[in-house]
Amino acid sequence: MIVLRAKNLCHSFDSLIYEGLDLVVNEREKIAIVGVSGSGKSTILNNLCTMLPPTNGEVDILQFQNIYTLNNQELLYIRRYELGIIFQAHYLFRGFNVAENLELASIVSNQPMDMELLERFEIAHTLKQHIGELSGGQQQRLSIARVLSKKPKIIFADEPTGNLDSRTAHKVMECIFEYVEKQNAALIIATHDRQIAQMCDKVFMLKDQRLREISL
Ligand SMILES: Nc1ncnc2c1ncn2[C@@H]1O[C@H](COP(=O)(O)OP(=O)(O)OP(=O)(O)O)[C@@H](O)[C@H]1O
Ligand SMILES: [Mg+2]
Repeated sequence: MIVLRAKNLCHSFDSLIYEGLDLVVNEREKIAIVGVSGSGKSTILNNLCTMLPPTNGEVDILQFQNIYTLNNQELLYIRRYELGIIFQAHYLFRGFNVAENLELASIVSNQPMDMELLERFEIAHTLKQHIGELSGGQQQRLSIARVLSKKPKIIFADEPTGNLDSRTAHKVMECIFEYVEKQNAALIIATHDRQIAQMCDKVFMLKDQRLREISL
């Protein structure tokens, strides 16, 4: 089953970032996007995940055709219930502690918190700590745990393990991959990490304003 389709996507800020981008993502598929810094990987993820209307082209997500013709409420619904967005900014509530952050997420998404995930991410002991007392890597793992416990159908991840040492990064990626398999979800990840890209089903390189599939 196709969960996401992009047709002839084009984006410009001051100048053209990319054009003619076509992408089809199936259930259980893990897609990596690679390319040098500034090539437009984050822009693609933003275009695909409801956050940034492309200059041209269409994005279909699940049963929703051409999502940027929908109203804000419908986009919010898709974002809240169908998508998991793991971006460089963490979206944690800084005035609250870890347990409260998790509770808020589970109220919003109507899903129970997955405590096993916290154990596996080695942050279960931080429940009473305030966000400001966590290390960058602990915050990153907490925000990933929060996203997975929402049970999203499609996960968008922008350098999700950027703050982590390579052992922790690989453990976290294994959890995300396992989630995708178990829940019949899909993953689109922008990464500079060759090993992580290699663990995906398909790898696309963004270069010269075009997205092309490559083999690593
Ligand atoms: N909001 C914006 N307004 C204007 N230009 C932008 C904006 N966001 C990104 N850009 C520009 O678009 C280009 C692509 O940026 P993008 O963040 O998508 O690259 P990237 O491949 O994700 O890079 P990195 O690997 O460093 O994260 C860059 O030249 C950047 O300066
Ligand atoms: Mg980026």
